[in-house]
Amino acid sequence: MRLQRRLQRAHLHFGHGTERAKDDAAALVWHALGLPVPASPARLARPVSARRRQLLERLVRRRVVERVPVVYLTQRCWFAGLQMYVDERVLIPRSPLAELIEQRFAPWIDARRVHRLLDVGTGSGCIAIACAKALPRAQVDALDISSDALEVARINIRAHRVSRRVRALQSDHFGALKGEAYDIIVSNPPYVGAREMAQLPPEYWHEPRQALAAGRDGLDSVRVLLREGARRLRPGGILVVEVGNSEELVRREFARLPFTWLEFERGGGGVFVLTREQLCAAVGGSRAALSGNMLDGENVVVGDVG
Ligand SMILES: C[S@@+](CC[C@H](N)C(=O)[O-])C[C@H]1O[C@@H](n2cnc3c(N)ncnc32)[C@H](O)[C@@H]1O
Repeated sequence: MRLQRRLQRAHLHFGHGTERAKDDAAALVWHALGLPVPASPARLARPVSARRRQLLERLVRRRVVERVPVVYLTQRCWFAGLQMYVDERVLIPRSPLAELIEQRFAPWIDARRVHRLLDVGTGSGCIAIACAKALPRAQVDALDISSDALEVARINIRAHRVSRRVRALQSDHFGALKGEAYDIIVSNPPYVGAREMAQLPPEYWHEPRQALAAGRDGLDSVRVLLREGARRLRPGGILVVEVGNSEELVRREFARLPFTWLEFERGGGGVFVLTREQLCAAVGGSRAALSGNMLDGENVVVGDVG
C-alpha cells in the first residue's frame, strides 16, 4: 500500500502496459522479489532479503525519477496472452490489434485461407508472433526498419518457437520485399505528428522515436501503407492498420476511402480494415482518393496500385 501511494503521489503517466499505480506497484514487487505468477500465500509470507529490498528501491526510483515505464524495468509483458521480452529498443506492446488477432481476424477474412501474412513495423514481434500462433497455417513476414528492434523480435520469435514460420526482415516499409503477396497485411506503424511528439509525457521518451514519430502530421507511414498495400495483397486480402488518435485526420485526408473502423471490447480504437478490392476500386475510380492532402495543401504523389 505504501508503495502504491508513493507511485500515486508521483503523478506518473500510465498506459504503457499498465493502467494505474496499483499495477505498477504489483509488477515491480513481483519482479524485484522474483515471485512466481501466481504466488502462493506461503511464498508471499517469506521474509524479503536486503538485496531484494535494495533492488526494489532502485526500480521504484527509476520509475518515479526517470519516468521509465514499468515494462522496461521488468522487461516482460503480455500480448494476446503471450509473454514478450521487451527493452528500450522496441515500443511497449499495447495495440488493440491483440483482440482482433485472438479472433483470427473474423469476420474480415476466413482464417483457413490465410497462408501468408505481413506485419509492417514489427517492433518486438508481438503482432507477427501472435498471428503465427492464431493462424497455424500462415507464413509470417515481420518487417522493421530498425535493426535494434529486429534483434528483440528475433529473441521473441525463438522463445515462442515460431522461427520456421516467422521471418524477421529489415525493410523500409515494403522496400525489401520482392514479388511476395499476402492474404493479410497488418501494421501498427508510427503515427504521432510533430506537435504531439513535443507534448508527450516523459514515459514516451524512453521508447524509440522511430516507433512513434511519423513526420509533420503523423501520417508518413500510413500514406505508404495505403499507397502500396493493394499491390502487396492477394485477391480477397485485407489491410489492417492501427492509426490511434490520428483516426480523425485519416478520415479527413482519405475521405473517399471506404474504411471500416473497428470497435474493441477491451478498449482502444483507431484501427481500420480495407480489402484489396476496396483499395483497388478507390484507385481505379479516382487517384485522388489515395493521395490525401498534406496539411500544407500539397498533394502526395501516388504510385500505381493494383
Ligand atoms: C508503433 S511501433 C509498433 C511495434 C509493434 N508492431 C507493436 O505493435 O508493438 C512501429 C514500428 O515501426 C517501425 N518503423 C518505423 N518506420 C518504419 C519504416 N519506414 N519501415 C518499417 N518499419 C518502420 C519502428 O521501428 C517500430 O518498431
